Amino acid sequence: MKKEPILYINGQYIKLSEARVSPLDQGFLLGDGIFDVVSSWKGVIFKLDRHLERFFDSLRAARLETTLTQEDWRNVIMETTRLNGLEDASIRFIVTRGVPEGVVADPRDMQPTEIVWPAPYVFLADEETRSRGIRMMISATRAFPPDTLDPRFKCLDRLASQLIRLEALEAGYDDALWLDKEGYVAEAAASNIFMVKNGALYTPNTGILRGITRETFLELASRAGIPVNESHITAFDLFAADEVFTTSTAGGALAIRELSGREMPSPVPGPITTQLDAMYWEMRDGGEYGTSLQQT
Ligand SMILES: Cc1ncc(COP(=O)(O)O)c(C=O)c1O
Repeated sequence: MKKEPILYINGQYIKLSEARVSPLDQGFLLGDGIFDVVSSWKGVIFKLDRHLERFFDSLRAARLETTLTQEDWRNVIMETTRLNGLEDASIRFIVTRGVPEGVVADPRDMQPTEIVWPAPYVFLADEETRSRGIRMMISATRAFPPDTLDPRFKCLDRLASQLIRLEALEAGYDDALWLDKEGYVAEAAASNIFMVKNGALYTPNTGILRGITRETFLELASRAGIPVNESHITAFDLFAADEVFTTSTAGGALAIRELSGREMPSPVPGPITTQLDAMYWEMRDGGEYGTSLQQT
């Protein structure tokens, strides 16, 4: 029989069927919370401390408190994953502003809700789609500018990205990316964007979630001697690119074979996408930046 998932909720390790979060929780009512997702591959969590730093930055910026230190989060994430017996896992951890005392809630007076939920490893697309690349649509909706909800908040409020995904799926695409207010490429619904032109790599530098996979691919490109540009990119640049791909914790690189009706000129994944993705998985297999689940 399949083992029931175990979650960590507010100090307890608890079976999914017994896990409860109040319907009055501000995370549920308002999307008022911060989360992050790390992945474990062959029993090794990748860049756990970098994810925790990003998580703590978002918590501070959102004025959300946690009862756990960064070291405690580390231990709880490892322990919950071990309890689930998962080697390959996508591990989501969440802090919400919790349950208010009264109906009119003062956002300063709350006990946080803290959750860790390890699930079997998730790829953004199935194997067949990954091997032939995805169809990406440029959404009519623009990304949040930093003077509203800075995209660096990794927050629970995901309505806007759900809407652009719905728009894309309804139009027969696999995913959508959005441009920023000035019309420069920002990012996709749950991944960062890269393009290759004449052997050099380009990726947007502002108006995006600072993806941990993005920073890893930039490092791998430097190691491979591929010139890297973190710069403004327009839709035109993507239409005229040699290769375009996304990056995320959910699977490394994902090649794009068509972008808003423009097919890529050569078969996908292209050579640089393939090279960098292979280096990424070698890095994961080799344990670099890794924390073994066996470690205490
Ligand atoms: C909006 C957005 N951009 C980029 C990413 C990729 O970030 P990472 O590489 O840290 O998974 C994500 C991941 O969920 C995301 O939601």
